[in-house]
Amino acid sequence: MAAGSCDVNASYDIKHLLKSDALYKYILDTTVFPREPECMRDLRLLTDKHQRGIMQSTPEEAQLLQLLIKIAGARKTIEVGVFTGYSLLATVLALPEDAKVVAIDVNQKDFELGLPFIQKAGVAHKVDFREGKALDRLEELLAAVDGDPAAQYDFVSISDFLKGFNAELAADPRVDVCQITVGDRLTICHRLV
Ligand SMILES: C[S@@+](CC[C@H](N)C(=O)[O-])C[C@H]1O[C@@H](n2cnc3c(N)ncnc32)[C@H](O)[C@@H]1O
Repeated sequence: MAAGSCDVNASYDIKHLLKSDALYKYILDTTVFPREPECMRDLRLLTDKHQRGIMQSTPEEAQLLQLLIKIAGARKTIEVGVFTGYSLLATVLALPEDAKVVAIDVNQKDFELGLPFIQKAGVAHKVDFREGKALDRLEELLAAVDGDPAAQYDFVSISDFLKGFNAELAADPRVDVCQITVGDRLTICHRLV
């Protein structure tokens, strides 16, 4: 397999929800892989060999994440669920030079597997990794904030399984929300107030 080409055995290949593998390959080969930075490709291919590599975000998800960060003009961001850091690397590459991401995961060892790729890309200064359960770390972030806590962060990505979260979002008039079939599903949500 050529580096970066579509591999039927890769974890991201069995996660996509398209009815056609050929269409998925077309999307990857046409739009995703040609624009994927080398550091992201190298980390993705390493993580594919991880025994829990199935958890890795798919490359087209990471590309969409980067686009959303740029469209939103995000600067202060949070990522919950880092694993080896593929989507984290995508995030820090998309953020401006002086922006930050607070990256939260219960497992620091997996993050450390990907950290050399983040360092080699020259973007480690944008990462503030915090080990622990998301709710605990998020409570600490909230406690540290003056005024309107929600105003302090302008972009959050979460890749924990959150039971009931989509139904709660759909019923919440304070947000616009849309669930899309990228990767193994992605919910995009925009705070209105
Ligand atoms: C689907 S993986 C994240 C994939 C990652 N975004 C990527 O691009 O490869 C989910 C991660 O969430 C972490 N996790 C699970 N429950 C958690 C919790 N309660 N708090 C913080 N992290 C948690 C797991 O350790 C795992 O690394």
